[in-house]
Amino acid sequence: MKSVMGLLAGVLLSQSAMAASDISLKQAYAPHFLVGTALSMAQIEGKDPAALGVVQQHFNALTAENVMKWEELQPKEGDFHFGPADALLKLAEQQQATLIGHTLLWHQQTPAWVFTGPDGKTASKALLLQRLTTHINTVVGRYKGKVKGWDVVNEALNDDGSLRDSPWRKILGDDYIVTAFQLAQAADPAAELYYNDYNLYNPEKRQGAVRIVQQLQKAGVKLTGVGMQGHYGLDYPDLQQVEDSIVAFAATGAQVMITELDITVLPRVDDNAIGADISLNQKLQQQLNPYSQGLPAAIEALQQQRFTGLFRIFLRHSDTISRVTLWGVNDQQSWRNNWPMQGRTDYALLFDRQNQPKAVVKALLNLVDEVKP
Ligand code: G3I
Repeated sequence: MKSVMGLLAGVLLSQSAMAASDISLKQAYAPHFLVGTALSMAQIEGKDPAALGVVQQHFNALTAENVMKWEELQPKEGDFHFGPADALLKLAEQQQATLIGHTLLWHQQTPAWVFTGPDGKTASKALLLQRLTTHINTVVGRYKGKVKGWDVVNEALNDDGSLRDSPWRKILGDDYIVTAFQLAQAADPAAELYYNDYNLYNPEKRQGAVRIVQQLQKAGVKLTGVGMQGHYGLDYPDLQQVEDSIVAFAATGAQVMITELDITVLPRVDDNAIGADISLNQKLQQQLNPYSQGLPAAIEALQQQRFTGLFRIFLRHSDTISRVTLWGVNDQQSWRNNWPMQGRTDYALLFDRQNQPKAVVKALLNLVDEVKP
C-alpha cells in the first residue's frame, strides 16, 4: 500500500510540477510514432516516483528493462514470478500507455536449467521445445490482449549476419526462430511480433535480419516488425547506415521500431564494445571515465546533434517507424554506466540523474515543427 501511495503522491507531485511545462515528447510525436521508455524494477515498484512522473508526461509505450526476461519470470522450472510484470501492466493501464513484452527467447538471462536435461546433460530437442512452449504459452497467455507486441526472439545474429550459435540453435536447429514466432502467434494471435537485435545498421547484420524476416514470411508466420535496438555512440554508427537499414526492413513489409535507444558519451573501451554484447565486462579504468564530475556542455551538444540527427531520420520514415523507445528514463538508470566497463558515469539518455530534461528534449520537440510537411 505504502509503495502505491508513494507512487501516487510522486506522480501527483510531479504532475503539478509539470502543469506549466512544455508539450511532451509523446504529444509532439503522437502523429508520427510512439515514444517509449524502459522501466527498471525500482521504478516499477514505485521507488522512483520522480522518474514515473517523467514517464507519465513524456512516454506512451513501456518496456520492462528486465522483469519480463526468462530469468525473472521463470527462474526455476514451473516457478513463475509475475509480480513485477503485473505491476508494470498496472502502471501501463494507469497511464494509458502501450505495453511491450521484452523478451521471450534470448541467449542471455536464460537460466541454465532451461538447457539442461534430467541427467544433467544437455536437454534434448523435445524437452527444450516443450519448455519453450510452456514458457511462451504461460507468459504470452497471461498478457493476452494486454501486451501490444513481443520481442519474440532477441539477438539471434552475429555481426556478420550469420546465426549466433546459441544453445537454442544448437539444440533446436536453425528453425528455432520460426518455432518461437509460431508459438507466440498461437498464444496471442492479435499481438504484434518482433525480431529484435543490435547493430542492425551494419549491412551484413542487416542482411541477416532480412533473411530472418523472409524465413518467417515464407513459413507463413506472423512477423510484424524489426526492432533496431539503437545502442549508439557519439561517433558510431554512420546515420546513413541506420537509414539504409530502415529502408531495407520496410522493403520486406515489416514495421521498424527503434527499441532501445541510448547514446553513450564515453570513450570506446575497445572495438568490440559497440553494440550490446553483455558478456563484455571490464574493470574500471579511470582514464576511460572522463565525466565523473559532470558532462561538459560541448559533449552534451555533440550528443544532442546525434539524437536530433536520428530523430530527423525517424520522422522522415514515420510511415515505417511505429515506435522509438529510449532504453531507460534517466542517466542514473542506464546500463551504459556499467557496460562494457563497471562503474563509469555515462549520460546516455534524455533525462539527467535528477529526472530533469536535458536541452536535447527541447530540441526534439522543436524538431517536429521544423520537419512538419
Ligand atoms: O536483479 C539482480 C539483483 O537482485 C542483484 O543484486 C544484482 C547484482 O548481481 O543483479 C540484478 O540483476 C541485474 C539486472 O540487470 C537488474 O538490474 C543483472 O545482474 C544485470 O545483468 C541486468 O542487466 C541488464 C542486461 O540487459 C542483462 O539482462 C540491463 O539492466 C539491461 O539494460 C540490459 O538490456 C539489454 C536488453 O535486454 C537486450 N538488448 C541489450 C540491452 C543492453 O544490454
